[in-house]
Amino acid sequence: MRKLLITGGAGFIGANFVHYWARQHPGDRLVVLDALTYAGNPANLEGLPAGADWRLVHGDICDQPLVEQLLAAEKIDTIVHFAAESHVDRSIAGPEAFVQTNIVGTHTLLLAAKKSWPEGGDFLFHHVSTDEVYGSLGPADPPFSETTPYAPNSPYAASKAASDHLVRSYHHTYGLPVTTSNCSNNYGPYQFPEKLIPLVLINALDGKPLPIYGDGGNIRDWLQVEDHCRGIELVMNKGRRGETYNIGGHNEVTNLEIVHLLCRTLDHHFSTDPALARRFPHCPAAQRQSCAELITFVKDRPGHDRRYAIDPTRAEKELGYTPAYSFEAGIEATVDWYLAHEPWWRAILDGSYAEWVSTNYRNRN
Ligand code: NAD
Ligand code: DAU
Repeated sequence: MRKLLITGGAGFIGANFVHYWARQHPGDRLVVLDALTYAGNPANLEGLPAGADWRLVHGDICDQPLVEQLLAAEKIDTIVHFAAESHVDRSIAGPEAFVQTNIVGTHTLLLAAKKSWPEGGDFLFHHVSTDEVYGSLGPADPPFSETTPYAPNSPYAASKAASDHLVRSYHHTYGLPVTTSNCSNNYGPYQFPEKLIPLVLINALDGKPLPIYGDGGNIRDWLQVEDHCRGIELVMNKGRRGETYNIGGHNEVTNLEIVHLLCRTLDHHFSTDPALARRFPHCPAAQRQSCAELITFVKDRPGHDRRYAIDPTRAEKELGYTPAYSFEAGIEATVDWYLAHEPWWRAILDGSYAEWVSTNYRNRN
């Protein structure tokens, strides 16, 4: 039985991981450490299986005494590190929090683990990172592999790159047992509506513009979040210590294609379920129009990376990794989830989130 400290476990991927792990490993102890920033939401942890052995600690990964106290009191043998500032646009508007949490916070966790875990013990520090550390690809470039040189372009990506290097150095220098995974864009339940897919879904339902940065031709490599969690589990269980693994599903899509797919999916739901028109009267689909009418091209993101793509060959060959979801099935399930969880996202559309949306999109018109 493992005792896991899951940082950022009240955020999007962290919460999906907690749900996934509690189902797959019912006897394990799960301690979630989360600062509950705007992106952290205790409601994401509701509905865990009855009998799951878990606890949420409201605290900051930069608080070394707290982290050390938790490692000792809970006899933690595994850290799964998700906590981060994660939104690229916010890193452009205010990079300081990204340096603090993503770099200083990761280093604080490493220091605490090194101090608390006797050398040679059966411990693991798994670091969750991103494909954005590799920079941007041209149309004919091969996808990112683990040996692609780092070339981060946004303050977010640079802070994640720095954290990856710190994790690597603690293994190389001090022998700390670490693994790192670099994953492509995730989507699925509990994703905060500042990110493209939930933003578009919610705006379409409320009849608001669907903002496409630039020409909409930027490419991301999309993976359903549970497939990411499965990949992390494989890296933790079978990955070589000190090694990094790229996780992705060979699924490159332009932003415009995704937005059209979401619009088509919503249009279809409205045409087969009359109750939706009553629930969402401002959605064009309620009047038998297409949600695609709301598509609005806006000013591009500064330094916007053109293309990301992951080569997951190492994870496939060494760990036997393959994603379970097709993109179509994953998007269909995600649309269903947001339609079924309106109270969850309505509760988020409060003052501080509304303020971010109005500042971010005011400058783009
Ligand atoms: P998120 O923004 O939804 O959640 C981040 C969580 O971290 C929140 O619960 C927040 O409260 C918490 N947090 C922030 N600062 C903290 C601090 N100082 N101390 C403790 N907790 C803190 O992010 P996400 O999309 O779930 O991403 C999780 C991790 O996965 C990040 O490390 C991110 O870089 C990485 N990642 C994300 C994606 C993606 O597509 N979202 C893809 C690859 C990798
Ligand atoms: O690649 C992994 C990364 O994916 C993670 O490391 C990040 O934490 C995560 O936020 C995500 O970064 P992106 O910048 O790719 O995600 P985002 O949802 O912000 O944007 C996806 C694409 O959609 C990107 O090309 C920008 C574009 N976009 C985004 C928003 C919010 C728009 O065109 N309009 C929008 O309103």
